[in-house]
This record gives sequence, structure tokens and C-alpha cells, in this order.
Amino acid sequence: MAEYDYDVLVIGAGPGGYVAAIRAAQLGLKTACAESRETLGGTCLNVGCIPSKAMLHASEYFDAAANGTMAHMGIEVSPKLNLDAMHGQRRDAVKQLTGGIEFLFKKNKVDWKKGHATFQDAHTVRVGDETVTAKNVIIATGSSVTPLPGVEVDNDKQVVVDSTGALELKAVPKKMVVIGGGVIGLELGSVWRRLGAEVIVVEYLDQLLPGMDGEVRKEAGRIFKKQGMELRLSTKVTGCTAKGKKATLTLEPAAGGEATTLEADCVLVSIGRRPNTSGLGLENIGLELNKRGQIETDHDFRTAVDGVWAIGDVVPGPMLAHKAEDEGIACAENIAGQTGIVNHDVIPGVVYTWPEFAGVGLTQEEAIEKLGDKTKVKVGKFPMMANSRAKTNHEPDGFVKVIADAETDRVLGVWAIASVAGTMIAQAAQAMEFGATSEDIAYTCHAHPTHSEAIKEAAMAVQGKPIHI
Ligand code: FAD
Ligand code: NAI
Repeated sequence: MAEYDYDVLVIGAGPGGYVAAIRAAQLGLKTACAESRETLGGTCLNVGCIPSKAMLHASEYFDAAANGTMAHMGIEVSPKLNLDAMHGQRRDAVKQLTGGIEFLFKKNKVDWKKGHATFQDAHTVRVGDETVTAKNVIIATGSSVTPLPGVEVDNDKQVVVDSTGALELKAVPKKMVVIGGGVIGLELGSVWRRLGAEVIVVEYLDQLLPGMDGEVRKEAGRIFKKQGMELRLSTKVTGCTAKGKKATLTLEPAAGGEATTLEADCVLVSIGRRPNTSGLGLENIGLELNKRGQIETDHDFRTAVDGVWAIGDVVPGPMLAHKAEDEGIACAENIAGQTGIVNHDVIPGVVYTWPEFAGVGLTQEEAIEKLGDKTKVKVGKFPMMANSRAKTNHEPDGFVKVIADAETDRVLGVWAIASVAGTMIAQAAQAMEFGATSEDIAYTCHAHPTHSEAIKEAAMAVQGKPIHI
């Protein structure tokens, strides 16, 4: 009889966990995956990437019809919002994709263990009423919303909500206050602005989108303001009272000063996410968390406890689905005795607003800090206004910026603001993965007319020789 029920038990069926489980099974390991949610797919498929993109895509059509973009191209329509139908297509997308993971589990013979998982020891996990033993356990429990003291979220009442509540609003709020000008605040704030809400973003820092390149952050502020969002930067929310269908927020300058109040019909709390580790029984296996509440691993995704591995939002690094997926594959390959590697220096990030904001690698500020002097960094920029396809499509906003090492010409980072920046950034990630120089990109033939030509031109600008500006 086998010593353990399974070779691998994965805890959590988000993009990290379900991908790790499938790859482990593909490699011939007997695999189970525990999930406390009713459906597979984790945050990303159920309440994150997928439903938010369904609402972003649909609201983009509505906005294009309502704001004159379509009329400008000779299509005259007077759109009428059917919010129930819009939510319906969102729910359909989620249902199909979560069902798809169930199919993939069956196809690959991954056993789905339904229920909350708690470690009893490093190889024994209680899942609901069942006890499961495994030679290797992968923690892929993901993250959940960081609460803001003094601001109580109640998604059912639809007045003070988190991202999950903001995806489900039954009516367009008249006035929505978004706390936090990061990715969630701008994506979901954009959805409701496009559908008719007045949106005010309150951000603690002096710019939106922390972590992105400085020029990109500055341009984001300009673009969202132009679209009609009100931005209150360098401002903190210190409290919120909700009465009936209204909320009153107390705001203060981030540096301290006089408090003011702000009324809203809906408040979205989006100040970040934190790792899910409570109730996991980590004390039973002696696994400690770092100062940020994350599980630390080595390069192979091994934790400090033998036989226990960790991946995705619960470990350090950007909280992104594709990062979790790649870690899931690499972790399973390492368990199977192969060499699984994730290059954490080349993980693209995309904000799916209009236009999209995307980047991979170092920001200009980080590159200068890393190389020690701004003369050691070369930057080439190309405006989307000068890109023939963007211009033809009436998409004047944005630019591409290529950052390279002045001595070796190796590309250190690429940033893009464009309608399809999220798709464009993949070529930059691939180029960087292959150690490309800006000259390599500049001399690669790009199809015309495409938005991607702006990446080639920005690379040519690093050499000082762009053609179209
Ligand atoms: P998760 O997806 O969080 O999955 C963890 C799973 O573990 C959950 O289903 C949870 O129920 C389960 N679980 C937790 N504890 C236990 C336990 N003890 N027992 C059993 N099960 C347990 N990222 C992108 O890359 N692109 C996007 O467009 C994007 N959009 C987003 C939009 C929103 C609104 C949000 C909130 C997030 C978005 N993200 C996006 C982030 C992305 O969802 C996460 O980075 C990703 O889901 C992390 O994957 P994971 O597998 O680590 O964890
Ligand atoms: P975030 O970290 O992107 O942004 C939070 C913002 O809130 C920051 O700008 C921060 O300065 C601000 N803030 C913090 N405390 C504040 C306060 N008291 N008052 C005012 N502002 C305050 O976090 P967000 O948007 O909640 O997203 C969480 C995670 O989900 C992100 O790390 C992201 O990786 C992931 N995500 C990714 C998406 C994508 O890839 N397109 C989409 C949505 C989420």
C-alpha cells in the first residue's frame, strides 16, 4: 500500500493551484486539489480577472456608443443600458470558464476535494470531513481584500463594497467614491463611469498606479481626468459612515491637515489585497509568515517545511494570475524532479482600462537606481498619436517607452499606453526573456499597420533614429 493517498495535494484551485494540479497530473503524479469555494478557478475566474474583464468589455461598447466615438465613425446609435443583461453575460463567462476547469480536472484525473483545508501535519490535511495525506502539499490559497479600518464593507447592502460587490451592483450609482487609485479602483471605477456614474478616486499617494513607470503614472492621471474621473491625490480616507443608501466619508490630506467630508451612493474599497493564511493550520506544521503575512519560499517554491511548497498570491511578488500560473507549472515540475523556473524579472502587468496601461521589467526610475546613474540608461519613446493604426482608429492617447542599458543596449523595461497595450506587451516580454537589445527590436520586421509598430519605433528612438517622429 502506498504511504500517502496522493503524491501531490494542492490547497486552492485558483490560477496557481489548478494549473499546478494539472501539470502535476500530466507528469504522472497522483494529484488532488482542495477548494473551499463552490466552483474552481479561484479569485481570478470567479470574482477577479474574468468578471471584471466581462464588465470592462461590455461597458466599453456602451461608452463608445454613448460618448460619440461611434458617431464619429458614422455609426449613429442611442444606447440603452440593460444592466441585468450585462451582468448576465458576465455570469455566463464565469460559469463557462469555471466549468472548463472542472472538465480539465476530469480529463487529467485530478481529484477535486471540496471543503476548507487545514494542516494537521506536513503530510496530513483535513479537507471538510475528510483526511487526506500527500507526499507533497502545495499551498496556493491566494489572497483577499485588505480591509480599511473605519470603513466597513457590506456587499449585500451595495453601499460600501469591495471588488466583489462592485462587480454585482444592481443599479448604476449616481456618485461613486473609489478608495485607492490602483488597478482595481481604476478598472472598476472605469466600468461604472462608462455606465453613467460620477466617479471620484481618492488616492493616498501623489500619483495613480504605484509600481508603474513614473511617466506612465503621470499620463494615467491626465487620461483618467480627461475621461471625467475626479482625482483626489495625496488624500487619505479616515472613516466612513453608511446610513440607508448613502455613505459619508471623512478625508484628510495624506500629510495631515484639516478633515473634509464627501458623500457617495457607493464606496469601493480597493486599497490592496493580503495573503490568505488564516485557518490553514500553519501553526501545526511550524511554518511562519514574513512581516507582510506572506509565505516565503526558495527559488524552487519550497517553504521552510519539508514537503510543503507555496505559489501565487500567498508568496511574495506581484499578485497576478499569470505569475501564479507560471509558478504552479514550475512548482509541479520541481516536485516531479524536473527543473521548473520562473523569471520574476520578466512578469508583465496590465491595467485593462481604456486605453490599457502595460509594462514589463524595470521602470526608468528603477533602472537608474539599479545602474547607479541616469547616463547609464537610454530611453526611447514613441507617441501613439504618430502610429498610423492608432491614429486611424481615433486613439490618440498614449506612448511606448523602451528602456535599455546604455552600455550593452540590453532592454531593461518596456512600458506602453495604448488601446491594445496588454497584447503588445507580450512581444516585449518575449524579447526580454531572450535577452534582446533595443537594436534587435528595432530591426525586427513588424506588420503594418499595427499598434505594435510603436514598440519598434520606440526601440529605434533608443538608437536616436525613429522614422515617424
Ligand atoms: P486565488 O485565485 O485567490 O485562489 C485561491 C483559492 O484558494 C481560492 O479559490 C480560495 O477559495 C481557495 N482557498 C483559500 N484557502 C483555502 C483553504 N484553506 N482550503 C481550501 N481552499 C482554500 N490578475 C491578473 O493577472 N489579471 C487580471 O486582469 C486580474 N484582475 C483582477 C480583478 C480583480 C477584481 C481581482 C480581485 C483580482 C484580479 N487579478 C488579476 C489578480 C488575480 O485574481 C490573482 O493574482 C490570482 O487569482 C491569484 O491566483 P492564486 O491561485 O494565487 O489565488
Ligand atoms: P493596488 O495595490 O493596485 O492599489 C491600491 C491603492 O490604494 C494604492 O495606490 C495605494 O496607494 C492606495 N491606498 C492604500 N491605502 C489607502 C488609503 N487609506 N486611502 C487612499 N488610498 C489608499 O491594489 P488593488 O487595486 O486593490 O488591487 C489588488 C491587487 O489585485 C493588485 O496587487 C493587483 O496585482 C491585482 N489586480 C490585478 C489586475 C490586473 O492585473 N489587471 C486587476 C485587478 C487587481
